[in-house]
Amino acid sequence: METETKSQFPKDFLWGTATSAHQAEGGNFNNWSEWEKKNTERLAKEAGKKWQDWQQKRFPEMFEADNYISGKACDHYSRFEEDFNLAKEGGHNAHRFSIEWSRIEPEEGKFDEKEIEHYRQVILALRRRKMEPFVTLWHWTNPVWLEEKGGCENKEFSFYFSRFAKYTAEKLGNEVKFWITINEPTSIIAAAYIIGIWPPQKKNLLIGWRLFKKFAKAHAEAYKAIHSVSKDAQVGFANVLHSFVPYRKNSWLDKFSVFIGEYFANKKMLNLTEGYNDFLTVQYYFHNRFKFPGKVHLGDKPVSDLNWEIYPEGIYHILKRLKKYNLPVYITENGLADSDDSKREKFIKEHLFWVHKAIQEGADVRGYFYWSLLDNFEWDKGFWPRFGLVEIDYKTLERKPRKSFYAYKEIIENNGLPR
Ligand code: GAL
Repeated sequence: METETKSQFPKDFLWGTATSAHQAEGGNFNNWSEWEKKNTERLAKEAGKKWQDWQQKRFPEMFEADNYISGKACDHYSRFEEDFNLAKEGGHNAHRFSIEWSRIEPEEGKFDEKEIEHYRQVILALRRRKMEPFVTLWHWTNPVWLEEKGGCENKEFSFYFSRFAKYTAEKLGNEVKFWITINEPTSIIAAAYIIGIWPPQKKNLLIGWRLFKKFAKAHAEAYKAIHSVSKDAQVGFANVLHSFVPYRKNSWLDKFSVFIGEYFANKKMLNLTEGYNDFLTVQYYFHNRFKFPGKVHLGDKPVSDLNWEIYPEGIYHILKRLKKYNLPVYITENGLADSDDSKREKFIKEHLFWVHKAIQEGADVRGYFYWSLLDNFEWDKGFWPRFGLVEIDYKTLERKPRKSFYAYKEIIENNGLPR
């Protein structure tokens, strides 16, 4: 029986979680797995400089080289049935995951039918459990053959990517409706090509600038390719959107910084892909207080284990700003690194409170995917940040739903926040 809810979400709202291939599957061979091997010692050494004392104390794994090798990860590749049983038990009616390009096209132009079959089984496993699959085609990893030709910088990137997208949609289009082409292009531009901490570790504004257009073109080509083979497909890209505020309300320099941040992080990619989105997405993690020429971190705000400020209201403003595009919106990621699960339930509820408010004020939000179902491999940070509703013991690979897993289940069962 439904308990009384204080905020009812729309009928048929999609509730689920998101994962990605490289972070969860294990056994991948791609540009990241190769980069990890070369950088593991360095990353372990740098942890002392990078993280605060309280983080170093709580997560000593960050000093171990092994932490930075994705290796078998969660072994989700073999255990997806078991993992989807958990999602089902949590009441989820949708699930987002990614297809690993390097498995489907391990050599240039040679496609592996066995791996397509694997992902067909993944999708059917979701369908059997009445969970709507959201399939991401590029969650940051390139096959090594492509990386050797310059990866995303290759002038034919959009050709290679849309060929892979078309092949995959041809094979799986009967089973999949929702396709997400590229995950967070602006995160890759920033971290891999401007700040230079992710592979291929370049610090080059010009390359970063050009990549906006490259990714937009790759998305548009993939959009057309998927629609050419699958008539009912709905296609979008996964967009990280940031919350920005000026630290000093009357400082024009701080306001100018917000303007620049809004433009490059939030608007440019949306503008460049206009006309090629059947839906929009929100991936929300970051609230930034700009004090020119940098950012300020206030010490008195709640933070995650990664020391990222928790600011639920930010998602409301983001959703309100998307209204002008007049497209359905899915929140394809929102989550928290919280190893002892002490803040996650509140985090989810408060974000959903603001999502609900935006819906009441006209935002057409149709789904929410918590990041992530399982603890997993958090890129250059490795395994210590724990985002999962389900905890993983990386020694035994045992899965254990956290308390917040059941809190999320209750929300889903009520299709809203309980009183
Ligand atoms: C997103 C990314 C995910 C995950 C998450 C948590 O930006 O798409 O792969 O790592 O952040 O940091």
